Amino acid sequence: MLKGKTIVIGVSGGIAVYKMCDVVSRLKKLNANVHVIMTKSATEFVSPLTFQSLSMNPVVVDMFEKIQKWDIEHISLAKSADLFLVSPATANIIGKIVNGIADDMLSTTVMATKAPVIIAPAMNTNMYNNPIVQNNITKLKEFGYNFIDPEQGRLACGDLGIGKLANVTTIIESITNTLINNKPLDEKKILITAGPTREPLDPVRFMTNYSSGKMGYAIAEAAAMQGAEVTLISGPVNIPKPSNIKKYIPIKTATEMFEAVKENLSQQDIVIKTAAVADYRPKIYENQKIKKSDGDINLTLTRNTDILKWIGMHKNPQQYIVGFAAETNDVMENGIKKLHNKNVDLIIVNDITSVNAGFESDTNCVTLIDKNGLKQNHAVMPKKELAYVILDYITKQISK
Ligand code: CTP
Repeated sequence: MLKGKTIVIGVSGGIAVYKMCDVVSRLKKLNANVHVIMTKSATEFVSPLTFQSLSMNPVVVDMFEKIQKWDIEHISLAKSADLFLVSPATANIIGKIVNGIADDMLSTTVMATKAPVIIAPAMNTNMYNNPIVQNNITKLKEFGYNFIDPEQGRLACGDLGIGKLANVTTIIESITNTLINNKPLDEKKILITAGPTREPLDPVRFMTNYSSGKMGYAIAEAAAMQGAEVTLISGPVNIPKPSNIKKYIPIKTATEMFEAVKENLSQQDIVIKTAAVADYRPKIYENQKIKKSDGDINLTLTRNTDILKWIGMHKNPQQYIVGFAAETNDVMENGIKKLHNKNVDLIIVNDITSVNAGFESDTNCVTLIDKNGLKQNHAVMPKKELAYVILDYITKQISK
């Protein structure tokens, strides 16, 4: 997804340096070319060798140090950057940049770049709230530098308050959003279904599943970030509704979801069905609470419409349809069967029994299989990142 993009990361000193190992490794998974520049004090927390191994590029520490086997000077590093991230950014490096002080490799390179610069501060609360630091940040914003605000939490010094480096996923999202600013889904209309459905038995009980809606909501948010007009049809979930979408249709039952899909399908360019739709509902809905008796009771269930299959039968040839396959066994075989049975363009298969994947997890591990049988495996990654990977794949397919 970030193939061909060069990201230069300036790491300045602070306990949060260790988090940057994860950032570098995730950017590599997204195929970015990553170069790390460390200040001397950053090397007190994590060794340059760690970043060198993770980024697969030499790490630069100081301008006056000999850079083995490496002929790129700081200016060419500054030029090659598609994006420059300074993280964690100390009060010191922020102060240097705003005052034009260039006295080491990081401050020199960041000042020589024309790429967008994102700064993620991390420091003690009082330092961060200090009017001098705040004034520096305001000035840099005015110069066009972007900031990822630190978070509230327990800091290394034991204080509670603002100053913790933003979490890794927020940093990655901010990078991908900045780099994908050409809005590849501009004017595309995308229908996304997400979450579980609830199938009521009586006024107090229902059947449902563990779907959290996280995957569908992440795709909805990412698609809107990329310029798409998103309609999100959602079952009951406990996560906030993405703020940037065009239309939000809350539903409870599979039947309600089907009605909403039918009403909105014809206008769409792309449909992504992440929802975990109940295949059955209680045949009889009791208007009054079912009272218990001593013996067992039998519940008769009746089939709900397979909404995705219906879409596969009624879609127009220009529409690109994506299904998910939640499997516990014979994962690939079952996924391929669904791809053909439901006549979809792409099926995203996941083994919901594996660790770090499935319904309630913040991460997922999937394989994308298209109509021609082409498979693309992805390592475990946060759903918010996977959303961009999936959309990137779809964008390439529809622009062929
Ligand atoms: N789906 C749907 N309507 C249903 C059931 C499923 O639209 N009544 C969609 C889901 O949104 C998903 C895909 O079909 O995109 C596969 O759903 P999944 O639950 O994995 O499979 P099922 O088709 O229900 O088959 P099974 O339960 O037998 O695995």
